Amino acid sequence: MRHDPSPFSNRVGRLRSGFPETDALLILGEKNIRYLTGFTGGDGALMAGPDWLTLLVDGRYVTQARADAPGAEVFEFRKRADGIAAVAHQHKVGSIGFESPVLTVSEYLKLKESLPDVSFQPLPPSFEFLRAVKDEEEIDRIREAAQIAGKAFAAVREMIRPGVREKEIALDLEYRMRRGGAEQASFETIVAAGANSALPHATPGSRTIADGDFVMIDYGAVCGGYHSDETCTLLVGSASERQREIYRLVLEAHDRAIGAIRAGVSCGEIDRIARSHLNEAGLGNLFSHGTGHGVGLEVHEAPRLAAGREEALQAGMVVTVEPGVYLPGLWGVRIEDTVLVTDKGCEILTRTSKELAVI
Ligand code: GLY
Ligand code: MN
Ligand code: MN
Repeated sequence: MRHDPSPFSNRVGRLRSGFPETDALLILGEKNIRYLTGFTGGDGALMAGPDWLTLLVDGRYVTQARADAPGAEVFEFRKRADGIAAVAHQHKVGSIGFESPVLTVSEYLKLKESLPDVSFQPLPPSFEFLRAVKDEEEIDRIREAAQIAGKAFAAVREMIRPGVREKEIALDLEYRMRRGGAEQASFETIVAAGANSALPHATPGSRTIADGDFVMIDYGAVCGGYHSDETCTLLVGSASERQREIYRLVLEAHDRAIGAIRAGVSCGEIDRIARSHLNEAGLGNLFSHGTGHGVGLEVHEAPRLAAGREEALQAGMVVTVEPGVYLPGLWGVRIEDTVLVTDKGCEILTRTSKELAVI
């Protein structure tokens, strides 16, 4: 597969042409800075003018910034707001578009004080989509992350039986993902047995698995900064009719949503397809979250597959599909895959079978 040796100049070009209204853009989100420059350190700022790009870092990161981000001029600051003001003066900037979800109120007030003649404008919501369409190299990393996670899961599945604690499984899964080449887990691995599986984001604890439990395992790996996200819900021992029925309905919602994914379909439509299937079965009020989300440098990023989201899916987006039904105090089922959107449909990157496994 061909890889662009330096995708960063294209990304910066896209940023600049997408938001031309202000003299400079101020990017503060760590993942956005990484996406635009290759810089993997924390706590910096990126300023982009029409024909200049400055990466501002403190003394800890100067050497790393020069190595990671050869396409940007590196500016060392002691206080970030002072550095931003100095670069703005240097380029005689009259207006700055900034990442409003990331800039704190106190830093904003400092900047207003140091740059009284500069107009500050929050970047529009469409900025959130900067990273939504992935290039081949990004897709390869997510694919690799999904493979590592899936292989670790296959090994850990052998230890799921009555008497084993949730946190032992979570620990073993994370250990195997890292041994398998992951930089880290995508998020704190969820292993939730029995009544805990009714909590969509349970923390693994000391509960031991018992016969008849659903065990919900939501896990992912990070490779080259890119995440995977997958949920398998297994049944230990013997399944009741109700458990089989609800599992089947959630799987149908999942399969129908995945079957509808292709470039051009709206994100809200995918949510509607999954949700209406569960609504028709009288379970809609037990499906308490959106159907999915984008995955990339962050485990949750644009787009959201949720009610009312009119944005169209585009080829190259990587999104999850994860319907769930949660019966408080009893048990829950979630089935989640990470998929790559294509012109004709989608490719499932998380390859573990989602047929009901009774073990
Ligand atoms: N693991 C978090 C999620 O599925 O969104
Ligand atoms: Mn997940
Ligand atoms: Mn997810």
